Amino acid sequence: IVSQAADELGVDCYVIGGFVRDYLLERGTHKDIDIVAIGSGIELAKKVASLLKGKPKVSVFKNFGTAMLRHDDIELEFVGARKESYHRDSRKPVVEDGTLSDDQNRRDFTINALAISLNSSNYGELLDPFDGVSDLDNKIIRTPLEPGITYSDDPLRMMRAIRFATQLNFTIEEASLQAITDNKDRITIISKERIVDELNKILESSVPSLGFSLLHKTGLLPYILPELVALQGIEEIEGQRHKDNFWHTLEVVDNISETTDNLWLRWAALLHDIGKAPTKKFHKKIGWTFHGHEFVGSKMVYKLFKRLRMPLNDKMKFVQKMVLMSSRPIVLSEDYATDSAVRRLVFDAGENVEDLMTLCEADITTKNPKKQRKYKN
Ligand code: CTP
Repeated sequence: IVSQAADELGVDCYVIGGFVRDYLLERGTHKDIDIVAIGSGIELAKKVASLLKGKPKVSVFKNFGTAMLRHDDIELEFVGARKESYHRDSRKPVVEDGTLSDDQNRRDFTINALAISLNSSNYGELLDPFDGVSDLDNKIIRTPLEPGITYSDDPLRMMRAIRFATQLNFTIEEASLQAITDNKDRITIISKERIVDELNKILESSVPSLGFSLLHKTGLLPYILPELVALQGIEEIEGQRHKDNFWHTLEVVDNISETTDNLWLRWAALLHDIGKAPTKKFHKKIGWTFHGHEFVGSKMVYKLFKRLRMPLNDKMKFVQKMVLMSSRPIVLSEDYATDSAVRRLVFDAGENVEDLMTLCEADITTKNPKKQRKYKN
């Protein structure tokens, strides 16, 4: 139908971006389909809607020159091909009409700049000016232009590079990776909401540690989650060492991700030790201690959610509770190793977070009355 509409209007149009990438990767159906028209995307959207059964409503975003319509569970987004340039300190681009090639130039990665023609004269033709197909084959994330320019146009792309590398298990090409380190401080102009969207996508991947290691390696992490960075490092006093809680945290996140897809459990795993940085002490008699870190950590969760403008709702409270319980050996079984309580909870609750929330409220099951009082308090 899009093809018919474009032919009737006499405009060239292409499907571009994530849909093409995922189609070529055979990654299931991408529900958001981006269509670029060499002309008015809004006119094309209206024409498509008029040809579709049920004549769906077209939402027009005049300022952006885009239009969107929903058909079944698919979201079609239409845009006129454009040329964008950005000023250094603003996210607001200067936009002009452009060719397909201008539009491909302004895209973030070669694998996201692939376009397939939808006009009947060359239906299905793949337009791949940056060799994105080779990058798909070789599992590489690469910017189409000089990476400094692509990241400067939208610094969130530094996180998107890491997010795609994590989701797809791809490698970020050397210059595209180095440019993240070089431009890392530019992430500060990006809204917290957009940053959290990317963080969530990294956390929802099958091996989240890939993304967090890259955020760490490129130096982005201190701008986003300094509490995690503070967990890094091992100190030795009088021959006594403690484990590196940063790398340990990433291990826990990966372990939990094998058991559950639930985002909030994954957040709990990511934050379960954050109180250890401010509570770390060395005692002559007992060695390293992190006494009370779960209480401190739970308060830090609130501050962290607030800073990242994440909703301070029951999900946040759930993460707090999990952090609070993360060091209690008595939660479900007395003989379980101290640091594994979060893992244990996840294991026992499986996918059902409602159950888990109930478990968090459940009575403490230790048989030792002294301990029971202590933990209840
Ligand atoms: N895009 C871009 N720069 C951004 C965001 C998006 O160049 N900062 C372009 C890319 O071509 C991308 C397309 O817009 O493929 C659509 O963006 P988006 O919907 O955010 O991502 P997808 O690639 O569709 O992937 P996903 O839906 O998995 O996030």
